Amino acid sequence: MADMKTDVLIIGTGPAGSASAALLSTYGVQNIVINQYSWLASTPRAHITNQRTMEVLRDLGRDVEDEAYLHATEQELMGENVFCESLAGEEIGRMKSWGTHPMSKAEHLLSSPTFMNDLPQTYMEPLLFTTAAKRGSQTRMSTEYLSHVQDAGGVTATVRDKLTGQELTIRAKYLIGADGGNSLVAQNENLPIEGQMGVGGSMNILFKADLSRYVAHRPSVLYWVMQPGANVGGIGMGLVRMIRPWNEWLIVWGYDINKPAPEVTQDYATEVARQLVGDPNLDIDLLSANTWTVNNAYAPQMQKGAVFIMGDAAHRHPPSNGLGSNTSIQDAFNLCWKLAAVLKGQAGEGLLDSYTVERAPVAKQIVTRANKSIDEFGPIFDVLGLTGSVDPVKMQENMDARTEGNAAAEKKREVLREAIAFKKYEFDCHGVEMNQRYTSDAVVTDGQLEPAFSMDEELHYHPTTWPGARLPHVWVFSPEGKKVSTLDLSGHGAFSLLTGIGGEAWEDAARTISKELGCTVNVHLIGPRRAIQDHTGDWARASEIRDSGCVLVRPDHHVAWRAEEVVDDPVADLRRVLTSILKPGSAQKMKGAA
Ligand code: FDA
Repeated sequence: MADMKTDVLIIGTGPAGSASAALLSTYGVQNIVINQYSWLASTPRAHITNQRTMEVLRDLGRDVEDEAYLHATEQELMGENVFCESLAGEEIGRMKSWGTHPMSKAEHLLSSPTFMNDLPQTYMEPLLFTTAAKRGSQTRMSTEYLSHVQDAGGVTATVRDKLTGQELTIRAKYLIGADGGNSLVAQNENLPIEGQMGVGGSMNILFKADLSRYVAHRPSVLYWVMQPGANVGGIGMGLVRMIRPWNEWLIVWGYDINKPAPEVTQDYATEVARQLVGDPNLDIDLLSANTWTVNNAYAPQMQKGAVFIMGDAAHRHPPSNGLGSNTSIQDAFNLCWKLAAVLKGQAGEGLLDSYTVERAPVAKQIVTRANKSIDEFGPIFDVLGLTGSVDPVKMQENMDARTEGNAAAEKKREVLREAIAFKKYEFDCHGVEMNQRYTSDAVVTDGQLEPAFSMDEELHYHPTTWPGARLPHVWVFSPEGKKVSTLDLSGHGAFSLLTGIGGEAWEDAARTISKELGCTVNVHLIGPRRAIQDHTGDWARASEIRDSGCVLVRPDHHVAWRAEEVVDDPVADLRRVLTSILKPGSAQKMKGAA
């Protein structure tokens, strides 16, 4: 007999674990979430928070979304990504980033009701965690997961209460390993991890110092410092990252992974900060320092039986592109509605197989993108002449060469401009953030081919209602004229069906099928004199269906299926589609528990 019982046990209170707990509690699913430490993230690792993540927070409630904006540094202050010799020294180049370039800003505004922002992990985690606790999650800090066993009925985990030293057992129907890049859950479950861990060494130096005079006129979250003579692998590139404008900072500085991690003392940290800021008299208030390793690994399989992994447990990569915490929260959004549907008896366990099928390709994609983004600094180093020599005098001469008045220098300036602009694949990569399309058994085709991307799919979001894609956002209107996003019409733990004039039969069909399957399908009729109005015609253009057709949307905003126009027997079609997705009575194919 286990000491505790729950439906879902979540290991870890990072972005993945806290988001899972918040979502499951919001959906009315019993859960316990544990963390081996006495509190949440003590350092502000993740910060770039993209629109897709903000949509998850918005789905949790406008209160959650608003609180995130309250603590975040707004998008406008994120954008002047600077490359320089030091903060006080010469600027080498700059690029507008994170959706602040006017062209990119337009795409952001058109794509989502939410805004990208800079929300340090030290704010995001408490927001998600308190939302979970307030909504019913049982939270246990200082509780370390040790092991688990699976059987036909679920999972029994053994944990250690670190306050008493006592070992306890927790019985759960499902276990989520959101336990980070060294996931013991993944290891105990023998889930394969492809790629390489520890490909580089990095240290974080968190400090307070008012640097307004160097940065307030070119507001950014990232200042990249390239300094000949700095002592890391011949190329001294350091990152000075804003935590709070403009008096709290994090320096990210590399170390040789083949040597032991350095001890970061106050003196060492001050020396690095003075060097990168370019102020020999700078005094810093050192808050903390720690080292971490750069990884390049992902899990091709994110579940076995009743055990799932998510977040860094499944995708381990450098912070480039700011995708880690974002993807972790989005993993949770994908899995939690499925668990809720199974636990509420609306779906068979077969639905859960779609988690790996949908999220493992995303894991691979973001790990590959983040590591590629590191390599894409190469052309900047090359043209500045930082790679050909380790002699600081020679390196400085190479950097200076671009300022000369000859044809070779002009060519260098052109190549440098292009190399910096190319970094949009790291700093303005909207498509990677928003274009996730799923192909799985939890989506039903309408027979149409996947639409091709008309622009670079990494850089630009391509809205479509093609089944598997995220429902496009457009503003529609309530009869009182209030602006409502199409995403607000969907989500909140339920399926939604959007239709228009002539599609009334879908509404009746949804009511019948909801009763039959015991799952909610919220229907929204869009059109003149209907509950939702499309004054601008944006929905008519974005929906890619006729007025009488329908777009069926999953609780995670992804299109489940669509019909171009009303059919003879909408009940039969909706039954076919929803039973195919929910698979009532099915068992998981991916079982494989011991
Ligand atoms: P995370 O590691 O955050 O949490 C794991 C949890 O499991 C913790 O609560 C831990 O205590 C717990 N745990 C582990 N083992 C346990 C055990 N045995 N028993 C009980 N509990 C256990 N991402 C992003 O989206 N945008 C960004 O801008 C950045 N920037 C960034 C900068 C820097 C410098 C770094 C190092 C990282 C980033 N990231 C990022 C990445 C981001 O920090 C990372 O992807 C997320 O923290 C991952 O969240 P998880 O919840 O998966 O794991």
